[in-house]
Amino acid sequence: MCGIVGYVGNRDAANIIISGLRRLEYRGYDSAGVALSPEGENTLKVVKRAGKIVNLEAGVQKELPTSEEPYAGLGIGHTRWATHGQPTEENAHPHLSQNGQFAVVHNGIIDNYAGLKEKLIADGYTFKSETDTEVIAHLIEACYDGDLRGAVARAVETLEGTYGICVISSLHPKLMIAARKGSPIVIGVCKGETIVASDVSAIVSHTDQVIFMDDGDILTATPDTLDITSLKNVPVSRPPTTIDWDLGEIEKGGYEHFMLKEIYEQPVALANATRGRLVPKEGSVKLSGMQMDAYEMARIDRVSIAACGTSLYAGMVGKNFFEEFASIPTEIQQAAEFRDRNPIVLRDTCMLAISQSGETADTLAAVREATRKGATVLGVCNVVGSTIARETGRGVYLHAGPEIGVASTKAFTCQVSVMAMMAIAMGRTRRLSEHAGQAMVEELARIPELAQRVIDRNDEIKAMAEKYASKNDFFYIGRGYMFPAALEGALKLKEISYIHAEGYHAAELKHGPIALLCDDVPVVAAAPMIPGREKTIANMQECRARKSPVVAIATEGDSEIKTHADDVIWVPDCMEFVSPIPVVVAEQLFAYHVARARGCEIDQPRNLAKSVTVE
Ligand code: M6R
Repeated sequence: MCGIVGYVGNRDAANIIISGLRRLEYRGYDSAGVALSPEGENTLKVVKRAGKIVNLEAGVQKELPTSEEPYAGLGIGHTRWATHGQPTEENAHPHLSQNGQFAVVHNGIIDNYAGLKEKLIADGYTFKSETDTEVIAHLIEACYDGDLRGAVARAVETLEGTYGICVISSLHPKLMIAARKGSPIVIGVCKGETIVASDVSAIVSHTDQVIFMDDGDILTATPDTLDITSLKNVPVSRPPTTIDWDLGEIEKGGYEHFMLKEIYEQPVALANATRGRLVPKEGSVKLSGMQMDAYEMARIDRVSIAACGTSLYAGMVGKNFFEEFASIPTEIQQAAEFRDRNPIVLRDTCMLAISQSGETADTLAAVREATRKGATVLGVCNVVGSTIARETGRGVYLHAGPEIGVASTKAFTCQVSVMAMMAIAMGRTRRLSEHAGQAMVEELARIPELAQRVIDRNDEIKAMAEKYASKNDFFYIGRGYMFPAALEGALKLKEISYIHAEGYHAAELKHGPIALLCDDVPVVAAAPMIPGREKTIANMQECRARKSPVVAIATEGDSEIKTHADDVIWVPDCMEFVSPIPVVVAEQLFAYHVARARGCEIDQPRNLAKSVTVE
């Protein structure tokens, strides 16, 4: 979603902000802008453009004087993903106050903006955009009495909704203020300068020392000082965290797209997700982040999983794990639904919030609701220090490394692995035997190799994808562990290739969707050598009888399946519980190559954002 970068220091703010915004491009956006405070000019210079950052860069080059000296050492920038109003130049951030002396960039949504706007208009303020953000700029002007921090604090106190904001003023050429409630702001701690951003990716090239602001914090930064206070101006101490990403991890490293790089990174990501956690001798695992002893684990009588998108489908796989290995009744819910339908949370419910980014608004809302209702809430997140990770306080990190491609890939396979480990840990306090645990732990040690063996078939999968790339409708089917795999395969295809693709339980096909099958509608059937395969083969026959071409995803050596499919993508043999990993890696490669053959913009698909921070 939207991205923020702010800079105060002695270097060229425009350059630093624009390169930071580039690092945030993956989040999805449709316009961009900067506001700069040139030394000694007593004015703010704003450049905004609809469309991509190249347009903004061209605008900056055209509108700013060229000189050896930095034009400004203070500035804020933004990439906007439209919510209120079209993606136009007028609606792009930064927004200026009425007198032009205050500029603000904002992530989040102000729920009470309409009422505030009405009042401001009655007080003589005029609006140039359709955004909710512009009210913040005017409110800061209205609250200003010589103290910029105080004005921001008073302004945000009137806001309902979510915000991460960064503010500068022409009246304070060396001062940057940031505030947050619900939308992340990270501070990069550097010598002689401060950089803030909505995401660490924009900061890692400058420093590995970052501070994650909390809701209600206000940052006051000058080139030499950095103070965090509460809205009431009480100092707050937030020690820096060291980020262990290096720059290479957030660059393409020779791959054509981040998505392909991240698919290829899965063997390493899976090894990192399991490293130091498997205890083969005991047939168990060590997950210290769960902060639960055997007694507490044994008391859990229900697991409730909340997540969105790909994380939701990983959660569906996880549901099988908790029920099968730990015999704990488990429910899985779309995170927004969890909150909206006022769920019953029993005393010994353990809620898992699954989120790659750790910032998804619906999942965060579910975390807060479950916490309020007394559940034990664990985060299963990838991004260290993200809001869900911090608010849950305990859980298991994926250690998958940064995921930049909008289409989630390595997060899914690592989420599945992490939940398998969590279920083994819980199962070992119950009926899961040491022997059974050992077999599972040994299998988990093999998953990097399983993923690699699918990746080794990239060329075959590519050829097959190119054969089907002209089709406009697809079905994905599967049963048991393959049902969430079918949903995930269809999601991958639709989000990056814009092909209409539906994931269905294989048994459900004949209850309606079969009416759509014909020779132009291929069916991808996930049918590896696990329980349910025979029945899925029967469903494949039903599809072929309606002339649909069938692409099977099947276990190497399964010669029978070839007779029931037009094409086969081979995956290595493995135990049932890890089978979604190789199958989904195959689906990721298939979707990637279809999208590439269709010339789609794979890393930043239209209308999509990497982390969805609005409800
Ligand atoms: O960061 P999260 O895992 O919470 O994100 C959830 C979904 O927004 C995300 O998985 C989305 O569906 C991806 N674009 C799927 O590829």
